[in-house]
Amino acid sequence: MTSVSERLLELKKKRNAIILAHNYQLPEVQDVADQVGDSLGLSRLAAKTEAEVILFCGVHFMAETAAILAPDKKVLLPDLNAGCPMANMVTPRQLREWRTAHPGAYVITYVNSSAAVKALSDICCTSANAVAVVQQAPEGRELLFVPDRNLGFYASQKSGRPLSLWNGFCPTHERMLPEMAVAAREKHPGAILLAHPECRPGLLAHADAVASTTGILDYCLQSNAKEFIIASEIGMLHPLRRENPDKVFYPLTEVADCPNMKLNTLEKILWALEDMEPEVTVPPDIARQAFQPIKRMLEL
Ligand code: 13P
Ligand code: SF4
Repeated sequence: MTSVSERLLELKKKRNAIILAHNYQLPEVQDVADQVGDSLGLSRLAAKTEAEVILFCGVHFMAETAAILAPDKKVLLPDLNAGCPMANMVTPRQLREWRTAHPGAYVITYVNSSAAVKALSDICCTSANAVAVVQQAPEGRELLFVPDRNLGFYASQKSGRPLSLWNGFCPTHERMLPEMAVAAREKHPGAILLAHPECRPGLLAHADAVASTTGILDYCLQSNAKEFIIASEIGMLHPLRRENPDKVFYPLTEVADCPNMKLNTLEKILWALEDMEPEVTVPPDIARQAFQPIKRMLEL
């Protein structure tokens, strides 16, 4: 009997589809993907793929970004309920009001946001390039950063540029506390502690390095160390262990789980390829406006 993954791989070929998966996806989903990566890497792949269909295994804003960057492709998200709570913490109306209250300000928007919010922004950033984006922001203008207060605080600290921060956060990364870092260090002395910049500043202060999901992966691949404590979503453990079989990885906590990322299953991927839905689309006027800040980021 053919397995679900065999059937979906056959259908993927027939549909001329590419499967892009985020580093937090379920292990079995990552294993059937053509490419696994972070938000920045996956956006770049979506922009240049020659496939007719992009099956995006991630959360809604990631599929939206793919749809904006590849307007002539069909973008499928296996489960439309896979949202990002942080992206919902700022609405277009709120951002419009914030801009109005700060005339002349330059708006930097984390890609974990809706297309409509991106459309009101000057430039986007991801966790991989937030510091560089803030560094190149125009001098002499107030800088507004939405929606992640933790990534914004980190980028401001690293770049030395003051930022006005929106009060959004990732509920999954917020669960990781500084005392967990202290306990993990005691339990695994000598291990390198790597953290995602969506973590609280108090936790980042304990990290040996702060990086995007793919940045964490690259760090571990290049490091001579043998043990690592990972302060990021639990899905990260799969690519880390797969790429580094000789190294040991400890999650900072098992409770850092993003339930939305886990909504995409092999069965739902198969159904998406069979039915060619659920499709993620962005209204053309919003897509046109949101394209500019994303393009500015990708050109950096
Ligand atoms: P990366 O861009 O580092 O993969 O992060 C995306 C995300 O949603 C992390 O929670
Ligand atoms: Fe959003 Fe956090 Fe899940 Fe990333 S881990 S998709 S920021 S809720």
